[in-house]
Amino acid sequence: MQIIILSFLCFLPAFLAAENFEKDVLLPRISGGEDVYPYDFPWQTSIQYHTGYHFCGGALIDAYWVLTAAHCMDNQQPNQIRVVLGEHTLSVTEETEQYRNISRIIVNPFFNGARPEFNYFLPYDLALLELTTPVNLNYYVKPISLPDQNLSYSKRVCIVTGWGKTGVNADGSDILQMAEINTLDNNVCRYTWGYYIYYGNICVYTYGVTPCQGDSGGPLVCLDTKGYVLAGISSWGDVDCGDHPSIYTRITENLAWIHDVIDNDGHH
Ligand SMILES: *[C@@H]1O[C@H](CO)[C@@H](O)[C@H](O)[C@H]1NC(C)=O
Ligand SMILES: *[C@@H]1O[C@H](CO)[C@@H](O)[C@H](O)[C@H]1NC(C)=O
Repeated sequence: MQIIILSFLCFLPAFLAAENFEKDVLLPRISGGEDVYPYDFPWQTSIQYHTGYHFCGGALIDAYWVLTAAHCMDNQQPNQIRVVLGEHTLSVTEETEQYRNISRIIVNPFFNGARPEFNYFLPYDLALLELTTPVNLNYYVKPISLPDQNLSYSKRVCIVTGWGKTGVNADGSDILQMAEINTLDNNVCRYTWGYYIYYGNICVYTYGVTPCQGDSGGPLVCLDTKGYVLAGISSWGDVDCGDHPSIYTRITENLAWIHDVIDNDGHH
């Protein structure tokens, strides 16, 4: 089994090579999904170069802030990238899109091993993008709620979304894809991925449904008493987008960091 990082970037963590992984780093997308009903997921963000090239997903959590995967920001500068909200079909201008530039990229300080999680694969794979001007919140563009601290969101049916590849040999999807998917107990996920899985991960698996290259950074949302909440951000998975659990970064383990950043940003 090989690991793939679910972005459309060419990126290889150095410690992977050191551990003699067979890895392949790609750009993310969902295999086994279906077209979303337009604007049902108004927090879904496309992260692009200024050329319009989509390489990762994200989740709007506030009019000024998008949450994505830290590995999507490897070697990126704020002025090289933009975010698009209110997007449905990437190639079509639907007049609902809002384009914003980025003023700051803030990577989780524990990403890639400043702590005991060093031995896990891509620990704390999260980054916050600050928009230079806030998006206008409307029917097409809405933030996703953050979860409660003490909910595990395991053993549920939740939803993944993204414009990533629809199969290992397919292209990225032009229309945003969604799929229902089961969330696993981490101990069950370890049957497949062993010690790469730590408490800050949440694994998803449903036969025939797999996030794939181009889906990295995109959201896993679960229905809760207050509506949909953000349970995870797409991090990595099987290189062939095959029939194995995919790994998200668990938001409940990162709430303190998220609040530290966005509650002290000068916008609130
Ligand atoms: C966003 O950044 C691009 C590239 O630097 C620039 O051309 C464009 O004018 C910027 N847009 C806004 C609204 O600042
Ligand atoms: C945590 O869980 C307990 C019981 O399961 C519940 O009563 C409490 O409200 C929860 N706290 C938060 C912050 O969600």
